[in-house]
Amino acid sequence: MTAAPAALEVLVEVARLFDEKLRNQLVALRRAIHADPELSFQEERTAQKLERALGEIGARDVRRVAKTGVVARVPGRRRDAPVVAVRGDIDALPVREETGLPYASHNDGVMHACGHDVHATWAVAAAALLARAPAAGDVLVVLQPAEETGHGAPAIIESGALDEVRAIFGGHVDRRFAVGQVVADDGPLAASADMFEIELLGQGAHAARPHESADPIVGLGALIGAMQTIVSRRLNPANPGVVTIGAVHAGTASNVIPDRATLKGTVRAVDASSRTLMLDEVRRLAESVAAAYRLSARVSLDLGTPPIVNPPNATAWARRAAVSIVGEENVVPLGFLNLAGEDFAHYMERIPGCFLRIGAREPGGVAIPAHAPKFYAAEESIFVGAAVLAQAARVASEALARDAGRG
Ligand code: NI
Repeated sequence: MTAAPAALEVLVEVARLFDEKLRNQLVALRRAIHADPELSFQEERTAQKLERALGEIGARDVRRVAKTGVVARVPGRRRDAPVVAVRGDIDALPVREETGLPYASHNDGVMHACGHDVHATWAVAAAALLARAPAAGDVLVVLQPAEETGHGAPAIIESGALDEVRAIFGGHVDRRFAVGQVVADDGPLAASADMFEIELLGQGAHAARPHESADPIVGLGALIGAMQTIVSRRLNPANPGVVTIGAVHAGTASNVIPDRATLKGTVRAVDASSRTLMLDEVRRLAESVAAAYRLSARVSLDLGTPPIVNPPNATAWARRAAVSIVGEENVVPLGFLNLAGEDFAHYMERIPGCFLRIGAREPGGVAIPAHAPKFYAAEESIFVGAAVLAQAARVASEALARDAGRG
């Protein structure tokens, strides 16, 4: 007889944290959310389901924030201890589901293809665990709308719901990892995604009389070349980064020099200083190349999601929590650099925290990528995510309360 994989034993241990009634309640909640997915900032029925579930498990002060977001409070053991938060995102994607699951989407062309049905459920499940074994301080459970558009986290911050929060934890299901495995790495975890648009303004003229022009097309050509040096000659080669020009427009006819040319692109960075450096360089090169070619430059930046860099202290709390739930051997390294964005980054610009990846591939399953029509997260990932996030909240709360006591 061969020994069961460690991850399977872990699932049995984790399952013990939930009684049968609660397990059934949580599985039913996840299936109901999965079957009735709603797009960003339209999560009305999802919010109602979550409000009801939070009420049933005994969370306090259940209230709406940021339009379709829900926040609830699980009281801690001590009134004066610092408050920490657990976040789950709740929105779906405009994808037509092809999983064939018995609880597949009823809403044509809308699907929980990123596992936010599980994230919403494990946040409620974490609240249930914290209600039974409270943290030192209160824990806020934040059910955030509109992660996919990147606008949900800023809206939650804007609402003031997190003003008293001293640490925040969240996670994402990931089928590249077996259910029972958890990634709690410090350092860069997700990239920023910012857009830029540059307009070069010159002087139009007849194509046969270029000396009367200030030709923006020649300037544009020089600028495209110069911008390749941002990553190759300005960014530290130890830090990954991307500058891509994705659209270029100029001119209307072969015998006319136009008076303007435009260029659009995107910058991706994995830490705040690389991001600032690359965006500053985009602006500096546009303005100085324009000046060299007797043009002027109009640069507009559309700032998207910041990068996620898990800081060492909060990551150590989350890691300790993960080890206590799934064991040292199941806390595994990410092993690759993720250049996708995640709007949890907005919280981490203000509040220490850690973003985890929670294994969601069932035994014998394959690594289906998120956002694909066949994506789903293994049911047991609800319980692993909930147990790890609840424990991370307890560990952080204890450490912060100790520090506050010392101060
Ligand atoms: Ni997602």
